[in-house]
Amino acid sequence: MGTMEDLCVTECTRCPKLVESRSRIVNGTGPEDADVLFVGEGPGAQEDEQGEPFVGRSGSVLDEQLRTVGLDRETVRITNCVRCRPPENRDPTKKELENCRGYLETEIDRLEPDVIVTLGKVPTEHLLDRSVSVTKEAGSVEEVRIEGTPRRLLICVHPAATLYDRSQEETFADAIQRAAELADVDGSEGGQTRLDGF
Ligand code: URA
Repeated sequence: MGTMEDLCVTECTRCPKLVESRSRIVNGTGPEDADVLFVGEGPGAQEDEQGEPFVGRSGSVLDEQLRTVGLDRETVRITNCVRCRPPENRDPTKKELENCRGYLETEIDRLEPDVIVTLGKVPTEHLLDRSVSVTKEAGSVEEVRIEGTPRRLLICVHPAATLYDRSQEETFADAIQRAAELADVDGSEGGQTRLDGF
């Protein structure tokens, strides 16, 4: 069983393989009332070492783009679908994603973000529950029900994609720009009234 206080999972042994491969549980960071919630796949080596999501090379790409659109890392929330580093950075399995889903749902419920930005294929397919070509669909916004509540989800390529494929830089930049716009659609509190007409 896991425990979650202040959105922080302090112990969890649901995924035996990940318990073996992790050094620590990597929880989300950022304010609990952030307007934007970024959701990645799972911690990599640096994140596992430092206990914070997106602190490696992908994190630098994300940070830089956030600054460009006036969204500082300190003002957004950043989390992952799974909170423990998979062995050799493999994708989390369906079972591992499901094991960790409750923590993510609690985080989303607590935050009530104006927009959830999924970074890459794994979080996008996990939350939309369908197969997605993120490079084709990046920048599009969908309504998704999470625990029965409609949430606005923006599809984005993973920041690491820009490191392997320069042509993804613009796609990534445009999606992050869109996230900033959606977070400030009408300047009012709470995202739930803003789902109309996106
Ligand atoms: N990639 C992810 O998906 N999450 C991280 O925290 C770091 C890299």
